[in-house]
Formats: sequence, C-alpha cells, structure tokens
Amino acid sequence: MAWDPDTYLTFGAERTRPAAELLARVDLDKPARVADLGCGPGNSTALLAARWPGARVDGIDNSREMLAEAGKSGVRAGWIEADLGDWTADAPYDAIFTNAALQWVPDHARLVPRLFGFVAEGGVFAMQVPRNFDEPCHTLLREVAKGKPWEHKFDGVRDWWHVLAPEDYFGLLEPLTARIDIWETRYVQPLSGEDAVYRWMSGTGLRPFAAALDGAERAEFLEAYRSAMARAYPMRESGVTLYPFRRLFLVAKKQ
Ligand SMILES: C[S@@+](CC[C@H](N)C(=O)[O-])C[C@H]1O[C@@H](n2cnc3c(N)ncnc32)[C@H](O)[C@@H]1O
Repeated sequence: MAWDPDTYLTFGAERTRPAAELLARVDLDKPARVADLGCGPGNSTALLAARWPGARVDGIDNSREMLAEAGKSGVRAGWIEADLGDWTADAPYDAIFTNAALQWVPDHARLVPRLFGFVAEGGVFAMQVPRNFDEPCHTLLREVAKGKPWEHKFDGVRDWWHVLAPEDYFGLLEPLTARIDIWETRYVQPLSGEDAVYRWMSGTGLRPFAAALDGAERAEFLEAYRSAMARAYPMRESGVTLYPFRRLFLVAKKQ
C-alpha cells in the first residue's frame, strides 16, 4: 500500500524528534558524504542538510510518493529511489543515518552489518527504530480480527516489522567496531484531538493491514480497530491522548 506523506506528517514533530536526538549523539565534523536511508518526505534529511551544510546528502527511499514529497521540500539533497534490502552504496559514506525506516526491511542480522560496510573509515552508522510492537497499538491490529471471516487475510502481514533486541545489534557490530552506543527512550507523547493514536497508526503500521482488506471488510476492521484503540488510549478531558512509544537508538563509529 502506497505511503501518504500528508497522513505521515500529521505528527511530523513527534516523528522527527527521535531523528534530532539521534543526530545529537553523532560526533562527526565535516563529513563529505551523508546518506539518509528511508528518508520519507525529507523531514529527517532536512536535519542532516542543516547540520552539515558542506556535505553531499542523499535521501534514499523506495516510495515514489515519499520521494515526490521530499523533492518538493526544498531540502538540499539528492533523492534516490532504491530498496534498502538490496541497495548498495556507490562509494563509502561518512555518515549513514536512518530514522524510523529499517523496521520495514527484513533480516537485520544481515542488513545492519552490510550497511555498516558502506561507512567510510572514521565515519558513523546511526539508526533509530521503534520497539513498541508489544503495545496495544500493534497487538490490537490482530486482536480485533480474531474470529472474523477475513482474519486469514492478515497471515501475510503478520511479520512486517523486523526489529531485534539491543543486545543483538551490539553482538552484530561488536566484531566490526568497539565504538557502539545503544540506548532506548520511552517517549510519553501527548497527541491532540479525537482518535489521535489511531490517526498516528494510519500513517504507518496500520497501512499493511488495511491494504489486505477492501470494501465492507476493510470498513469493519477499521471501525473495530478505531474503537478498541479509543479504549486502550483514552483521551483526557483536555483533549490530549498520551501515547507511550519506546524507540531504540544506535550509533556505531568505524575506527
Ligand atoms: C516511517 S518513514 C520514516 C521517514 C523519515 N526518515 C523520518 O524520520 O520520519 C519510513 C520510510 O521508510 C521507507 N521504506 C520502508 N521500507 C523501505 C525499503 N525496503 N527500502 C527503502 N525505503 C523503505 C518508506 O517508504 C518510508 O518513507
């Protein structure tokens, strides 16, 4: 299912904050070449272009819709359409940065060391991925389908996310560098308006499930998920809904 940049950017500030906090931990002066993997509409790429005005910055993504939006953003970068599963760098990058994207790409045991291999000597690999897949926003996607005649249509979308434990990433990179910084942050995000967490998920994790259905089945699923989410994430009297969200950060420097 195609990405919708407008829906994604409804919560642009919350989605970009982890990119800024990841970048703040990257200790790198004047890189020549910088890549933003899974650049989306260019919100994370904008931070890289601003931090390193002298660098060539490439935003790489496999969504034409997202790249079209990035192209209109005015961010100083080149935009490249490629699938990160088989993307290869044409030359080493001083910084390979990726915010909220690699969870969509399978086989991190292969992927992460492979991407680290494209980092230049003295350069940095920096990634952030969500680690909230056991929270109601994700578990309810399947729970509301239980017993429905269309439940089996979710079989193929069950494993859309591919995130490992922090210890696993450390183990993958440990043979390649001694300079690894890994941490997790649990944000408690105040979102405004009705069905806020449902609307957040509409821009990301709900998409593959909605795409597996159509017509009345999709409408039934979306309404069941929306109302279950309203119970799991109740809106406060102020109109604010708190959305806890755990994210994993990793910065590895090539020595
Ligand atoms: C949640 S958005 C992140 C956008 C931006 N980096 C940010 O910080 O908000 C995830 C992006 O990853 C891209 N993506 C997902 N799977 C991909 C793949 N296999 N190859 C390239 N890009 C992919 C999507 O198209 C989408 O633009």
